[in-house]
Amino acid sequence: MYKTHSCGELQTSHVGQTVTLAGWVHRRRDHGGVIFFDLRDRYGIVQVTINPNLSKATLDSVANVRFEWVLQITGVVQKRPDGMANPKMETGEIEVIAQSIEVLNPAKTLPMMVSDDTDLPDENTRLKYRYLDLRREKMNRNMVLRHRVIKFMRDYLDQRNFIEVETPILFKATPEGARDYLVPSRIHAGQFYALPQSPQQLKQLLMVAGMDRYFQIARCFRDEDLRGDRQPEFTQLDLEMSFVHRDDVLEMVEGLYTEMIPAVAPHKKLLSTPWPKLSYKEAVEKYGSDKPDLRFGMELLDLTDIFKATDFRVFQSALEAGGVIKCIVTPDSADMSRKEVDALTESAKTFGAKGLATLAVTAEGLKGTAAKFVKPEEAEQVKKITGAKEGDLILIAADKRAVVNKVLGALRLILRDKLNLADKDLMAFAWVVDFPFFAWNEDEQKWESEHHPFTMPKIEDLPKFDTNPGEVLSDAYDMVCNGYEMASGSIRIHRRDIQLKMFQLLGIKDEDIQAKFGHMLEAFEYGAPPHGGMAPGIDRLVMLLADEPNIREVIAFPKNQNARDVMADAPSPVEQKQLKELHIKISE
Ligand code: AMO
Ligand code: AMP
Repeated sequence: MYKTHSCGELQTSHVGQTVTLAGWVHRRRDHGGVIFFDLRDRYGIVQVTINPNLSKATLDSVANVRFEWVLQITGVVQKRPDGMANPKMETGEIEVIAQSIEVLNPAKTLPMMVSDDTDLPDENTRLKYRYLDLRREKMNRNMVLRHRVIKFMRDYLDQRNFIEVETPILFKATPEGARDYLVPSRIHAGQFYALPQSPQQLKQLLMVAGMDRYFQIARCFRDEDLRGDRQPEFTQLDLEMSFVHRDDVLEMVEGLYTEMIPAVAPHKKLLSTPWPKLSYKEAVEKYGSDKPDLRFGMELLDLTDIFKATDFRVFQSALEAGGVIKCIVTPDSADMSRKEVDALTESAKTFGAKGLATLAVTAEGLKGTAAKFVKPEEAEQVKKITGAKEGDLILIAADKRAVVNKVLGALRLILRDKLNLADKDLMAFAWVVDFPFFAWNEDEQKWESEHHPFTMPKIEDLPKFDTNPGEVLSDAYDMVCNGYEMASGSIRIHRRDIQLKMFQLLGIKDEDIQAKFGHMLEAFEYGAPPHGGMAPGIDRLVMLLADEPNIREVIAFPKNQNARDVMADAPSPVEQKQLKELHIKISE
């Protein structure tokens, strides 16, 4: 037996017992001839005291022991002398008096400290030595939390008749809006598998197969621009249900999350149960985003009517161009400096604004860049509509509706961070429903599906397909939390005729439809049940629960922001022979 106990479990109840431990040297201290080691394993840390009366051979063997050496220690658990207990340590009441020590493996000086979080190296160094980075307590905690989340999901769904089915990684392109990762075939020259951007087609085919309730902790692969909440491969809780309407799916997932959060992260509070449901339109008009952060107010308010007869050129020209005037009220910020306002204006411009007008509510009346253009009766109305009180700062944007919403939505989040307006322990889950079915691609001048092309349009909107595609709504829904899109799903098309029409509307040529999706269309001809589902992202959830700023912190071996695995150095060149077998020539 390598060990009788873990380092973390020893308590006063073990006093007097002889134990054998195995772990890493977390710290070493020498005090007047007595050596102390903190020995660490995944379960915790315990203090080991090296008795100076041990044999000379044993004492010699520990003389050189440094950080992160791997030791096996046998000793007796003893209560620490009075006044020596360490309340900061789980095992702080006791220590282990070593009787024998064996060095299982020495360690070179590490390229990074693992015993505390100060002086962390840059992220690429952490990723290069990820196996060391993961020794840190915080990373250890993140991995355990991730495990608990996934375990809870599996158990919850198992109890509700879901079965976990694995679907292929070597498959065919499944569009989710990103580029595909392709795998060349050796056996079929010039042909490629695509790694799934999601198991979308397969989970639907499992419904055609009569599985009724499916889930999978599914890896998805997408070649897209990376951000803090995006990785080239990431994990979804993918699920699908037959014979369901939208609310059946939402209730299932809401129930799961509502039970799971207190169980895995008790310090997190849910903002409300049941979760609010916002239409896409409402979310965008009120919060300037389809993934609103509901932890704080500062809703977008419409001032268009108030300024119908304005003398302010800037407002006039926006209105003449068919635009709107909206604002947000920043609490207690009337004294914001010129420099700060300029910085906000610059940010607004990066989101497409032409400028930003301000009204500061002060004891001496309205101040700010728009003050001298606002008539007294307009000022009264602005105060009434916004409820702004003395000390508040009103930020106004005038432009096309979409620009105004985007700009104020972005400023709302910038001010959230600047003024600390959101409680980090609050989880403000909400559903966003009734998405538009199509999104207009300005660059390519064509309609694209807002979600993936398997999403069911609202049946009552079917007649608008040809006349007014922009107004067609879909039976799609997103789960949002704290400003992140956490999940996405929809009721699916299960009829061949509608699915075919969908592909055609998206401008896919008939022969391509057959080549890419012929198997789906055919499956729908053999008795496909009505079905729907969704896919919550697991990385983003664990990121929020662990209070981490990006998903790399909750993935054991993530790619860096440049899509590289810097530990194994992938991607990397391969041998000429392999390329030849794959029928591939590298062009310069
Ligand atoms: P969607 O593409 O919206 O839907 O993805 C669902 C959820 O997966 C997470 N996610 C990501 N997480 C990390 N890195 C990424 N690159 C990344 N991309 C997406 C998000 C997102 O909400 N098949 C559909 C689901 C369905 O209709 O059932 C789908 O994949 O949390
Ligand atoms: P100008 O007349 O361009 O100097 O603008 C006067 C004020 O209005 C400045 O504070 C600008 O930042 C602001 N402003 C300009 N364009 C807009 C706009 N589209 N919406 C809101 N404010 C604007």
